[in-house]
Amino acid sequence: MTTWLVTGGAGYIGAHVVRALIDSGRDVVVYDDFSAGLARRIPEGVPIVEGDVHDAVTLAHTMRSHEIDGVVHLAAKKAAGESVDLPLYYYRENVVGLLSVLEAMEGTGVRRMVYSSSAAVYGTPAVNPVTEDEPLRPESPYGETKVVGEWMVRDAGVAWDLSWASLRYFNVAGAGSDALGDTSVNNLIPMVFAALDEGRRPQVFGDDYPTPDGTCIRDYIHVQDLADAHVAAAERCEAGRCADVFNVGRGEGSSVHEVMGVISAAVGRDIAPEVVGRRAGDPPATFASTSRIEAELGWRATRDLPSMVESAWSAWQANH
Ligand code: WQD
Repeated sequence: MTTWLVTGGAGYIGAHVVRALIDSGRDVVVYDDFSAGLARRIPEGVPIVEGDVHDAVTLAHTMRSHEIDGVVHLAAKKAAGESVDLPLYYYRENVVGLLSVLEAMEGTGVRRMVYSSSAAVYGTPAVNPVTEDEPLRPESPYGETKVVGEWMVRDAGVAWDLSWASLRYFNVAGAGSDALGDTSVNNLIPMVFAALDEGRRPQVFGDDYPTPDGTCIRDYIHVQDLADAHVAAAERCEAGRCADVFNVGRGEGSSVHEVMGVISAAVGRDIAPEVVGRRAGDPPATFASTSRIEAELGWRATRDLPSMVESAWSAWQANH
């Protein structure tokens, strides 16, 4: 069976990908600098290499010594808002970091990669559902680093026989267990939980968008479904040459008001959100076309929004 190196494998998403790969019968090695990842998220017995994503020497040594067959590259910074203030940090971490990983792969003969991209590459899509052929108009340096990363992976595939799949994540939520909840408070659902914990009313960032209920629409995907998509991509890269990008979402949109309603149901009371002004840079609506990943990788999401919210709430309560 194959062995996959998961960079960022101690992260919220990475920990779920590690488990899904193991559950599929694959061996895994985790490479993480623990700048954001948590060692407690890594299952017993999984080899851990603590290293910087820029350290090509350690990366190459890890690939050789563990006889790595493929790399799932998740190690990156992903706060779009922060990237506006720290663009060069984001380019260094996300682009130069990826360069080191690819150079180590090229030098050690590792020829399979699943690359963590993002729906942020689309910016504000002209039409929904968004297909992978939509023009890429990222609206943050974070999104731009993901576009550049996709180019680097694609061009490595042309130059040497890299078999790759770039996965464009939509809005990830939920938890596979209470121990694996998202510990960052950068996205809607944990931000609402934090408000509830602090006795504040959750905030709806604008209700004057051109959408049915006036609030923004997003495609929420359960982190376990997302992890399963990485296994499907790994399988495809093992089966033969793969060279494509894939949206990873549920293929349907949920509005902020709808999410607030699901959270009220999960916590057992009306959370009474207050509508405030718009947040800069929010597209009114973005949700995925998933026909390509369904056709090419045989994957589709199976978990619904309530299961994302309920599992996230259970994990939040267990960790706060
Ligand atoms: C979702 C919706 C907010 C908080 C971001 C990144 C993107 C990707 C996913 C990495 C928006 C609204 C939020 C709140 C609110 N990250 N909201 N009140 O902005 O869709 O995407 O995370 O790949 O790159 O940009 O996610 O969770 O911040 O917001 O009304 O307290 O919820 O306006 O419409 P977003 P989000």
